[in-house]
Amino acid sequence: MPKVTVVGAGMVGSTTAMRVAEQGLADVVLIDVDGDLARGKALDIAQSLSLTDSPSVVRGGEDYRLAEDSQVVVITAGFPRRPGMSRADLLDRNATVVREVVESVAEVAPDCAIVVVTNPLDEMSYLAWKVTGWDRRRIMGMAGLLDGSRYAYFAGRELGACPGQIQPLVLGSHGETMLPLPRFTSVGGIPLDQLLPPEKLLDLKERTREGGAEIVRLLRTGSAYYAPSACVARMVKAMLKDEGWRVVASVLLKGEYGMGDVFLGVPVVLGAGGWREVVELPLTPSERRELEECARLVRERMAELDAWLADS
Ligand code: LAC
Repeated sequence: MPKVTVVGAGMVGSTTAMRVAEQGLADVVLIDVDGDLARGKALDIAQSLSLTDSPSVVRGGEDYRLAEDSQVVVITAGFPRRPGMSRADLLDRNATVVREVVESVAEVAPDCAIVVVTNPLDEMSYLAWKVTGWDRRRIMGMAGLLDGSRYAYFAGRELGACPGQIQPLVLGSHGETMLPLPRFTSVGGIPLDQLLPPEKLLDLKERTREGGAEIVRLLRTGSAYYAPSACVARMVKAMLKDEGWRVVASVLLKGEYGMGDVFLGVPVVLGAGGWREVVELPLTPSERRELEECARLVRERMAELDAWLADS
């Protein structure tokens, strides 16, 4: 049985652990600075598995040795947004957490693939890559799939279509400048921009960009977790089963899309141990400009992280 470790036993982390375990994809380890919280949630998940016929073993605690030789490590540790905050507002607080987590993970699971979920997503993925110095294909951030599933949901509501028939594509950063692409989003094979007028497409774009904040406002004490954990579990499955599954993830670009040295959400092919390749799409000049704006903002914050790393 492969091993998947989830760091952070908050709502995103624990529901991710639950989804991976329920599907029997792997043995699961849940790690948190609050070892009892991780142990308690792991026990609770483990005690549910006889009902789903899952053979997964689930353990929890604060000790990173539990994560030894994991194939995939998911990082959810960090502070969530509060109402009114942008994801970028979390940069300083979460950089310290993510750096410590990644250093500990690299010691015990030197061959794993890392999926970052902590916000700000693109920047924390960059930090994970920078701290490890690993091959870029072993580090990715989960966001494009989540933003896409929100886009599919809103588009489905608009069209009266079931979301499962919608193949969404949302590129760029996991922030207010993310880029839902109706030309590359299909509903039963038909591009979304042929089904809805431009003003509706703009509404859907805005709604998707605000999708996470809408939930933060409603929950008041944290951010979304059911959809984020479903997305992470799907990506974990694609890697463990070496599926060649295509998904948008935040990865380090090295010339793809004409951009270098920036973490950005682009379509990649997932396989054993990480992602295999970036899929390049023919973007229009205006789509390209929007993607470049995402990159500019992410780069600014990557530079802040570089300065912080150089100082500490
Ligand atoms: C969201 C958080 C996970 O978009 O960033 O809900």
